[in-house]
Amino acid sequence: MRLDKFLSETGKGTRTQVKKLISSKKVSVNGVIVTDPAMKIDGENNVVDIEGEKVAYAKIEYYMLNKPKGVISATRDSSRSKQKCVTELIQEKIRDDLFPVGRLDKDTEGLLIITNDGDLAHRLLSPKKHVDKTYYVELDGRLSTEEAERIMGGIDIGDEKPTLPCEITRLSDTTCFITIREGRYHEIKRMFATGGLKVKELKRISMGPIALDAELGAGEYRPLTEEEIQLLRNFDKTEDQTAISE
Ligand code: URA
Repeated sequence: MRLDKFLSETGKGTRTQVKKLISSKKVSVNGVIVTDPAMKIDGENNVVDIEGEKVAYAKIEYYMLNKPKGVISATRDSSRSKQKCVTELIQEKIRDDLFPVGRLDKDTEGLLIITNDGDLAHRLLSPKKHVDKTYYVELDGRLSTEEAERIMGGIDIGDEKPTLPCEITRLSDTTCFITIREGRYHEIKRMFATGGLKVKELKRISMGPIALDAELGAGEYRPLTEEEIQLLRNFDKTEDQTAISE
């Protein structure tokens, strides 16, 4: 990889900014000052310093974020507005190309995986894979058993096709867990709205094999463990998509 690309991907500035750093002799590779931004380097084996400080390298990063309300599921670059983006919450990231795997509404909380692993994101979000996503729901009215069963069978929410069958576990008259296998816009809110119910609180608690760590408060995050990364890499090679919980 080119030196200037390496530096901008590790969050040291735009291509123009890092080229300036290089031309002003602030960057060294393996202890030798370098002035060619096109120099080919290998992040795993070369030591890159800026003014004597080592640039940390990570090919791929994975974080579990408990998304708080009021933050949008976008990257800084893709958001044209001044709204706070989920990737801005990850303070310790090494790379600058992280993005959220899928979207939660601005007023939805809960599990969001933040990574720069495009292949993994593609597999988790592919409509063909039908990855389970479980949410905790609070409604503004009573969810009857009959209504839950109606929604579970798959319903018309005004799209081309009805929703796929899903699972609902009633916790009380007004709260439940719902597991859906699609990722349509406002899907859960629209499903309950067909029966006149408004979603007051929505929180994602699992996605595929990953469960939200109960230790994470709203807005908190942690790197995924090695075990979780392996589960994600292998999840669609096994039949069972049940989430592990910490
Ligand atoms: N369904 C919704 O309505 N909103 C979300 O954020 C996720 C699923």
